[in-house]
Amino acid sequence: MSSVYIKTYGCQMNERDSEQVAAMFLAGGYSFANSELEADVVLINTCSVREKAELKALGKMGMLCSQSVDRPWVVFGFMGCMVQSKARELFETVPRLDVVTGTHCYHRVFPLCDSLLKQRLASAVHSPLRKGAQLCEVEDLPDAHNRIRDHLPARTSCSAFVSIMQGCEMRCSYCIVPYTRGAERSRPAADILDEVRRLVDSGVKEITLLGQIVNRYGREEPVIDGRSGFVRLLEMVHEVDGLERLRFTSPHPIGFREDLVRAFSYLPKLCSHIHFPMQSGSDRILQLMRRPYKQQKYVELCEAMRVARPDLAITTDIIVGFPGETQEDYLLTKAAVEQIKFDNAFIFQYSPRRGTPAADMPDQVCLREKEARNHDLLDTVNRIAIARNRALVGTQQVILVDGPSKTNPNRLQGRTSQNKPVIIEQGIAKVGELLPVTIRECTGFTLYGAV
Ligand code: 5AD
Ligand code: SF4
Repeated sequence: MSSVYIKTYGCQMNERDSEQVAAMFLAGGYSFANSELEADVVLINTCSVREKAELKALGKMGMLCSQSVDRPWVVFGFMGCMVQSKARELFETVPRLDVVTGTHCYHRVFPLCDSLLKQRLASAVHSPLRKGAQLCEVEDLPDAHNRIRDHLPARTSCSAFVSIMQGCEMRCSYCIVPYTRGAERSRPAADILDEVRRLVDSGVKEITLLGQIVNRYGREEPVIDGRSGFVRLLEMVHEVDGLERLRFTSPHPIGFREDLVRAFSYLPKLCSHIHFPMQSGSDRILQLMRRPYKQQKYVELCEAMRVARPDLAITTDIIVGFPGETQEDYLLTKAAVEQIKFDNAFIFQYSPRRGTPAADMPDQVCLREKEARNHDLLDTVNRIAIARNRALVGTQQVILVDGPSKTNPNRLQGRTSQNKPVIIEQGIAKVGELLPVTIRECTGFTLYGAV
């Protein structure tokens, strides 16, 4: 039996795409390789958002290729965002590469790799020239979702991602995503509901709706009874029998209206967590970033959501060292973090991306300054995050049991509605169960619960 190995970098959208590709390989009779060095097909799903992620993927592929010189039949492929931005260049950088497939044609990965592998295994001598390089870069199929629906991944988990839209048209000046994932397009609600129902029937308890700017879903639809297309979708998914938890990621302050804030007050399955990218606390930098809102508006939205759902956990993305960011701008970001008290924040050092407007802006911030701001902000973020976790000690929380703890396989791990991991003893619950626990202890980012 042939085997496949898939390594995924980047966002949940990529994880979801990889799951789909994996499911097609399984359906085609492949198994998952025990190790990357034993696989017949090696795929890396790439992310272009920052240079570091690209370098990691290139390094990993280079290493895997060099370690398999004695296995000339192995098919190597890149998928995802880096393919959209670099395409043919990749064949030059990694000479042993066979297949590259962009974000719009991951349903082609399996047939391309499988036919190449069969061809190679059938020929007695494996060509040292590794003929058969293939490129499938920008084939955009509006119905790609439907084509892959028959390959719903075999569920090993009680949580699943459901992609509700593709692409992004915001064109934030630092971001490569609009160039790699193309124009915004929403998926029909009936398809989404069908997928959610099938997942729930197969044992899934928690669904996360995914979109680059998820609250722009269905924005061409009329507002009905004050509810936008996205809020109506949330309500419809919420109705699905057997679904216990609903999440969505990631929203943008633009188009985040009163109806979405209110949804937190009347949709009990909607979890008490939102990942809400702020990017900067300085209006001047937000403008240079082409983020069309003021810091004040962002703060007001956080406050309004906390009124609608008092225990709401808010996490965010922040970029430090954007071109032109002065120490004063940075301090405004730090003040915003202190004011809003995020439950956690991902901090990114600005990374210039080829072809994006910010890459050519003047006053690029030097690496040392970016690192200094990153470290300083991380200290503040961690201090607040730990204090917020400590405040949960003694409270009752319902956790959804995910599986063995990543740090201690003799214990189980679940997540609260706020999406915080909680460690519990083995044997007191089954995976997929919703379990009320009391938080007994908190060591920094880890919570410990008891029944
Ligand atoms: N440099 C640094 N961070 C970036 N992000 C997007 N583009 C860049 C870039 N060029 C961050 C944003 C976004 C997150 C997914 O990645 O904060 O929300
Ligand atoms: Fe990139 Fe901005 Fe679109 Fe997010 S909203 S994907 S940061 S362009």
